[in-house]
Amino acid sequence: MKATDLGQLPYMERLIIEGGYPLKGKIDVSGFKNAVLAIIPATLLAGDKCIIENVPLISDVYILKDIMTELGADVELKYNNIMEIDTSKIKECVAPYELAKRLRASYYLIGAALGRFKEAKVSYPGGCDIGTRPIDQHIKGFEALGSEVNIDHGLIKCRADKLEGSKIYLDVVSVGATINIMLAAVLAEGKTIIENAAKEPHIVDTANFLNSMGADVRGAGTDVIRINGVEELHGCTYSVIPDQIEAGTYMVAAAATKGDVIVDNVIPKHLESVTAKLKEIGVEVEEYGESIRVCAKEELKGATIKTLPYPGFPTDLQQPMSVLLSVAEGTSVVTESIFEGRFKYVDEIKRMGANIKVDGRTSVIDGVKSLSGAKISATDLRAGAACIVAGLIANGATEIENVHHIDRGYEKVEQKLINLGAKIRRVKE
Ligand code: UD1
Repeated sequence: MKATDLGQLPYMERLIIEGGYPLKGKIDVSGFKNAVLAIIPATLLAGDKCIIENVPLISDVYILKDIMTELGADVELKYNNIMEIDTSKIKECVAPYELAKRLRASYYLIGAALGRFKEAKVSYPGGCDIGTRPIDQHIKGFEALGSEVNIDHGLIKCRADKLEGSKIYLDVVSVGATINIMLAAVLAEGKTIIENAAKEPHIVDTANFLNSMGADVRGAGTDVIRINGVEELHGCTYSVIPDQIEAGTYMVAAAATKGDVIVDNVIPKHLESVTAKLKEIGVEVEEYGESIRVCAKEELKGATIKTLPYPGFPTDLQQPMSVLLSVAEGTSVVTESIFEGRFKYVDEIKRMGANIKVDGRTSVIDGVKSLSGAKISATDLRAGAACIVAGLIANGATEIENVHHIDRGYEKVEQKLINLGAKIRRVKE
């Protein structure tokens, strides 16, 4: 089956939303994009067949599937969200610009290939344009494990005679660096300790996946991760955790439209910062075992939000949450402490009548009574989620361009929303 068979979409599509309908009903959350984007490259370490379940059918996954196929893996992605991937035939990892630029997570190929082949050549990664995204901490980790790292015409070249465990203190809390160093270290000799590690749920999920392949990774989810190197790994079957960012987006959309939605197939613990903030602004949120009910009846109040590494409020939900706050009573202040370029969507939402002022990393939002539909553009993935929330609450029709950004991370987005009563359709040029 080719990626296109599963609905990979051309660039010129738009979403048209007729706003003003409260979302009601139950929505199923897909597997976590950010986890699967680490787990797929991690299969390289086993050189064996892995079966990954609960894989979201999103364009980032199709792209990564194509990259793995180009590298020599046998990959099958099925409609039932199962990916079978056999990396035994891959003999080296050379991912030039044309491949790596398509996806930020292509940098995980470096850690995985370094672990398996002690060598990797991968171009600087692509991804959302949300500010500078250095990878110095990844490189520091690879070097600490004994790899030489050279940057040559945009290609990151890593090579080691052998990898040896080491103690690595991350100068910034980085999800990508934590995962990449884990990938390189599982087959290194001896013990690696990552200090000031990121604690996001997908770090735990990647560690669990590595352990299912025979690795010995302990402490993932805390800020000290200990890895005892093993000689080899083997294939396994593994099911990816639910996408807390997708879940959070629909929680925010439910609240913003004054709806009543059960967000199903979630791990409520992963959403505590979002739940707490929604409650603070006047939304009713009830947690069950694997679902969360979000119900908004009252006028919502403004709030102060600062994005932080997990378990703080996620930067990936800053944009949709800001749209919700744009129609909440009073003044809200949102500080973006992770990526400086994550306010690009503001100009789009202002065209719909929002009153938002951005100064550096802070936005001040004065709540307005309502937004009005307009033609807007998704400037990146989560900005696209913000555009959708804006369209759902606006009076009249909103037309969102650059939908390909949204398709990178939200499986069947319009179908899921239609099931909740939204008036949304996709238009092809
Ligand atoms: C991941 C997520 C992304 C999320 C982000 C923060 C994936 C595929 N993407 O991105 O959705 O928004 O975490 O939760 O999982 N930094 C450095 N040097 C480095 C690495 C990072 O200075 O070597 C800085 C970055 O510029 C940023 C901060 O550290 O300011 C956090 O970045 P990081 O956690 O690495 O984000 P990503 O892994 O790129």
